[in-house]
Amino acid sequence: MSQTTSTSRVAVVTGAAHGFGRAISVGLAERGVDLVLVDLVDASETASLVEEQGQRALKIQADVTNEGDIARVRKEIEVSFGRCDILINNAGAYPFKDFFELDYEFWRKIQTLNLDSQFLMTKAVVDLMMKNSWGRIVNISSNSIGLAFPGLTHYMASKMGVIGFTRGLASDLGPHGITVNAIGPTATPNGGTFQHGVDDEVAEAASQMQAIKRVGTAQDIVGTIQFLVSEDAEFLTGQTLMVDGGLVRL
Ligand SMILES: NC(=O)c1ccc[n+]([C@@H]2O[C@H](COP(=O)([O-])OP(=O)(O)OC[C@H]3O[C@@H](n4cnc5c(N)ncnc54)[C@H](O)[C@@H]3O)[C@@H](O)[C@H]2O)c1
Repeated sequence: MSQTTSTSRVAVVTGAAHGFGRAISVGLAERGVDLVLVDLVDASETASLVEEQGQRALKIQADVTNEGDIARVRKEIEVSFGRCDILINNAGAYPFKDFFELDYEFWRKIQTLNLDSQFLMTKAVVDLMMKNSWGRIVNISSNSIGLAFPGLTHYMASKMGVIGFTRGLASDLGPHGITVNAIGPTATPNGGTFQHGVDDEVAEAASQMQAIKRVGTAQDIVGTIQFLVSEDAEFLTGQTLMVDGGLVRL
């Protein structure tokens, strides 16, 4: 693929190979957006689903915690599309670990993946949005920041960080026509990168506390993301929306 400009809007989705990232990518393609699918692992299945919607999909295998990889992502976006309008900072992991078993290395690993990667990816593409005075950034947080599940100290710290990052960034980017919002999904058994994530039992427990008493799916956040990246949401920024069946209220 060597086209240098795209007439469609272009979205970068991190962690696009599975779970929420895949559902978000397909949901954006349904709205006529071309996709850059960034993931540690091969995102071919997501790419096929995007192409079925008649949109272009560029897969990039990259680690969103690695600055060299991120520089390559930026370069490939410029060469293939020449623009970037939407960034969905979704890649993350949610391994449960008791505080007494946490060491600093593991703590840092989770902060780097869940929070630092959002800073690095935003830095890498924001000037492409500024060029057109239009942009939409959606950062994935979690409704767990308002829950009492044990074993999530490291995770909750990172996802609260996402909310602070979102609030701060919205002020700096607003004058450039760029909105920045966050979403807090509920416990959803999507897979879990470290294979110690949300299982059916945790999701079922969460669902019983929700106002809407069913287990969440990746599809549940797609409509809200489609709205947040639309023209209709141009006056909405700096917010975190809990899309969680009414469990956590900010
Ligand atoms: N599933 C849940 O219960 C839940 C609830 C609230 C928030 N979240 C958040 O939603 C996001 C997505 O979760 P999911 O359930 O879809 O997870 P998932 O494990 O199914 O998918 C995550 C994707 O991110 C990719 N990834 C992991 N590390 C990466 C890296 N360093 N560089 C690039 N890609 C990387 C993985 O390969 C995977 O494809 C995460 O930020 C997670 O914290 C999940």
